[in-house]
Amino acid sequence: MPDPLSDHDRIPALLAQVGETVNRYFARLDELPVRSPESEAAAGRFIGALPEEGEGSAAALTRLLAEGVEAATRSAGPRFFHFVTGGSTPAALAADWFASALDNNAGLWVSSPLGSRLEQLALEWLKDLLQLPASWGGVLTTGATMANFTALAAARQWWGQQQGVNIAEQGMSGLPALPVLTSGFVHASVRKALGMLGIGHARVQVFSRDPSGRVDLENLERALREHRGAPAIVVATAGEVNAGGFDPIDRLASLAYRHHAWLHVDGAFGLFARVSPMTAELARGVELADSAIADGHKWLNVPYDCGFGFVRDGRLLHEVFGLSAPYFPAAVADHPDYGYLAPEMSRRARALAVWATLAAYGRSGYRSLVERHIRLARQLGDQVLAAPDFELLEEPRLNVVCFRYRPDGVPDTSLDDLNRRLGQAVIDDGRIYFGTTVYAGKVAFRPAIANWRTTQADVDLVLPITRELGARLVSPARAS
Ligand SMILES: Cc1ncc(COP(=O)(O)O)c(C=O)c1O
Repeated sequence: MPDPLSDHDRIPALLAQVGETVNRYFARLDELPVRSPESEAAAGRFIGALPEEGEGSAAALTRLLAEGVEAATRSAGPRFFHFVTGGSTPAALAADWFASALDNNAGLWVSSPLGSRLEQLALEWLKDLLQLPASWGGVLTTGATMANFTALAAARQWWGQQQGVNIAEQGMSGLPALPVLTSGFVHASVRKALGMLGIGHARVQVFSRDPSGRVDLENLERALREHRGAPAIVVATAGEVNAGGFDPIDRLASLAYRHHAWLHVDGAFGLFARVSPMTAELARGVELADSAIADGHKWLNVPYDCGFGFVRDGRLLHEVFGLSAPYFPAAVADHPDYGYLAPEMSRRARALAVWATLAAYGRSGYRSLVERHIRLARQLGDQVLAAPDFELLEEPRLNVVCFRYRPDGVPDTSLDDLNRRLGQAVIDDGRIYFGTTVYAGKVAFRPAIANWRTTQADVDLVLPITRELGARLVSPARAS
């Protein structure tokens, strides 16, 4: 009967087993297809009921490693262009393994001075890297969705204060609907966060002046004026998910200031535009906002799951997420307890990976990473422009390239269907990896470059492979 205690001395052997498999995997990762044709079958082999008698750690791990390597998408590799997916830098990966080994709870200083101090320092460094005011409060989260949730919870608390109500204490009953105004760039996760916060995602008022979602500033301002100075939340996006567009954050900041609104900036990946002078202008004005967030597991290239949120008035985080119980220590100056500033009480020490990657590569390493990706995206954009059978739907501003397949002889009315099928064919093929979206009413591809491993050779495969797979879909249609 295996009991974990009987495994006490097996840890070195188990870690060595994982280490060997992982090293073999990494040795091939740059060349492997993004998805093995066997992946679904391998995932499907994990079946069966809870075992009464465990098989033992060596046997369980052997099975996990064998099937797991086959079943996993190689999203850590250089050609996973789907969504906006970063990899894990070597330093971040190693630090994250160390975090698992230490298994510290970074909710309280007393449970992890290491996790708490590194979170404090990592947040300071991130503010520096992203050129945000050092005075802002902040916290690490599991990702951008939870960072949006956390920052918007602070905004909601502020909004209650304007009406003399402590929402964390009293809730929202009796209060009017909270106005949330934004552009068509708003990300689905902001709506999800608003739903979770009881503000209601259907309440979001979208002001866009064209099908791509660009903000209609005039009408947004008119709506703010109609609220007659009543507080509201304005949400700006730095890095729209389909084509990398930016709201004019500085102009939204001055509107928010004039009309007594809170400005929140969702910069899940786009906040990293501020790392390079090539693109910093795109995200001008974030420093004027009341809150801003970004992801760690995207362009920072730390392992899942990691995001971070900053709030100009950091005290609001404590008002919303603070708690007390007889067995919890009181907050002590300079001994941050991030469990009092975040939705979760117990928290992974994800700061170890954030600190390690920033310590290892520094400002210039990140600038070089971001600039390489921007150049690769621009080159891919140029390749699309030069190709007679592809159509660029938006000039790449950052690291996302939005385009569609448009070969001769296919009527416009069939393009959406063709591109949708082609997106599926790209995924099934697995040599490169991205899906489809709908941008400005057209089904389109939106490969995003965010992995530290990605090079020119990887990006140069995008059009030839897409063309090869597209031609297979078009030829039968033309023949019939
Ligand atoms: C602009 C934006 N905001 C929020 C998110 C949500 O991020 P996460 O999946 O890390 O919660 C994304 C994800 O792509 C995004 O692009």
